Amino acid sequence: MRDIFIAANWKMNGDLKFAREYATIFWPIKKKDLKVAIAAPYTLLALLKETLDGCPCLLFAQNMHFEDKGAFTGEVSAPMLKELGVDGVIIGHSERRQYFAETDETVLLKTKKALASGLMPIVCVGETLEERDAGKHFEKVRTQVASLFGGISAEDAEKVTVAYEPIWAIGTGRNATPAQAEEMCAYIRSVVREISGDKAADALIIQYGGSVKTSNCAELMAMEDIDGALVGGAGLDPKGICEIIKSSYEAKRG
Ligand code: 13P
Repeated sequence: MRDIFIAANWKMNGDLKFAREYATIFWPIKKKDLKVAIAAPYTLLALLKETLDGCPCLLFAQNMHFEDKGAFTGEVSAPMLKELGVDGVIIGHSERRQYFAETDETVLLKTKKALASGLMPIVCVGETLEERDAGKHFEKVRTQVASLFGGISAEDAEKVTVAYEPIWAIGTGRNATPAQAEEMCAYIRSVVREISGDKAADALIIQYGGSVKTSNCAELMAMEDIDGALVGGAGLDPKGICEIIKSSYEAKRG
């Protein structure tokens, strides 16, 4: 049985005051088969590491460079994140692909670096509305997934979390239906099965992301191939995300 994995992606939100307050309110349920993470801006990681001490929660960055150091102005590397005690990193979020020209190639390089550095990667994939309307969503997601898993060993594949985030559902309030999300998550698992084998496919944690909230998380999490959620806007409320975590866990484990 795979772990349930709920992560809150703060995106470019939050200041020191917000992070301090969040950390005093946020306390997810503690279960052996549940992972919870906060993916915060770089500037808040050190503070959160301290203030979340003892909280059953992993600390994630939202991006990193694939080189360890060098002339890459404005970038942050895996060793820098490790030094802060960060546990993992989101890679290839659609906003990074769209606004910062990230490609399947850089996503692969970053994922390899994260794995080699002992950082847990959450790798995001997903289609635009145009691609879905044109019936090209499976093709698009297959390309993204195949590029990633084709470039790493089956052993490493087991350590990756994939987040399926249809771009048309991000920040729009319009989530994919449980059936749509399940269809794609099952497809992603089947592509990983083809490339990395049964063991990796069975172990692969797949999150759904895109307008996840308290009112829809249970029905999404009840789906067979959805193992967790990557939550944006709703994750900015510490009480709200705790409710999402609790009701997702209950929906999954009954
Ligand atoms: P929303 O939950 O705000 O739609 O954002 C989803 C997302 O992009 C998480 O990474």
